[in-house]
Amino acid sequence: MEHAIKGGAKVWSTDNIGVRKRKIPCTWYAIGWSKELKAKPIKKRMLGRDIVLFRDQQGTAHALHAYCPHRGADLSLGRCAGGLLECAYHAWSFDGHGQCVDIPAHPGRAVPAFANTKSYPLIERIGLLWIYPMTRDLLDYEPEALKLVSPVLENPDYVLAPYDAIWQAHLTRVVESVLDVAHVPIVHNKTIGKKSPKEINIEFEAKDNRIRIRNGGGILDYDFPQQWLLTPVKTEGSQFINFVTFSPIEEEVTAIYGLAGRNFAKFPGMNYIFSRYSSKVLKEDQGIVESQHPRPIPDALRLEAHMPADGPQVRFRQRWYQFLTSSEPKIMISDAKA
Ligand code: FES
Ligand SMILES: [Fe+2]
Repeated sequence: MEHAIKGGAKVWSTDNIGVRKRKIPCTWYAIGWSKELKAKPIKKRMLGRDIVLFRDQQGTAHALHAYCPHRGADLSLGRCAGGLLECAYHAWSFDGHGQCVDIPAHPGRAVPAFANTKSYPLIERIGLLWIYPMTRDLLDYEPEALKLVSPVLENPDYVLAPYDAIWQAHLTRVVESVLDVAHVPIVHNKTIGKKSPKEINIEFEAKDNRIRIRNGGGILDYDFPQQWLLTPVKTEGSQFINFVTFSPIEEEVTAIYGLAGRNFAKFPGMNYIFSRYSSKVLKEDQGIVESQHPRPIPDALRLEAHMPADGPQVRFRQRWYQFLTSSEPKIMISDAKA
């Protein structure tokens, strides 16, 4: 990337490319399933950061920086006690806001502010734990939380079967795989694409953060940057919906959390079948998407070849480039192994 003139010569900075790669939209990302977080704290990775999750006495989930401010012990080795997270090393206790409220070695002494740790906003919706990756004091995150999930996913008429995967791929490549209609009859020729024609007359519209694709009997709604929902065009009878959300774990590692929903065959025993089928379809994409180079999408449209069938992805790229160059909230994927 060209970034300076030195002695009349153009200088290309690989650092600058690295910085562009690591910039990710700062928004709510799914960090795990609600059912994973029980009485014991657990550690999760998100945007190159280690995060500990725990529940207080009311069952409310909280997210803190994973390492104790005292001597860096892994807080997920600790325990939940009295609504607090207690470190396994010297039993300092932290509340859900990261405030240290007890240092057993000095019971009579006021707890200094430097004993506190970072906390992140965390909410639970549709069986997922969602984290806002900035610490609480930095940004206004509530309005975004309200529009986090489509109402159809909270409609009790649907039973949702969960599935997930972790791909060794950059967020942008993963997103493009679900906007790509032309690959369906090729990559998914034994599953969802069995009956799809190879010839594509793409029908889509894009406005602000949404790209809507009409594909056969389904409507695909992608909401920049991390959510995708398939709903049927028909509104009567048996219906199937599918939702996926993407969470950048590292620069080139992305978690996918999915919910396959149905308003028929509702007995829970069927969940396994729907989860397994959705995982199988994802698996068909995985090897291809993990093979793509460059790892994030290229820095300009002209650097790959586009055809009309690629319209939704081109639109996504335009939105991504707009994000990179605008003042929209961004977060850097941390290099630190912390
Ligand atoms: S390292 Fe956590 S209390 Fe000492
Ligand atoms: Fe696919």
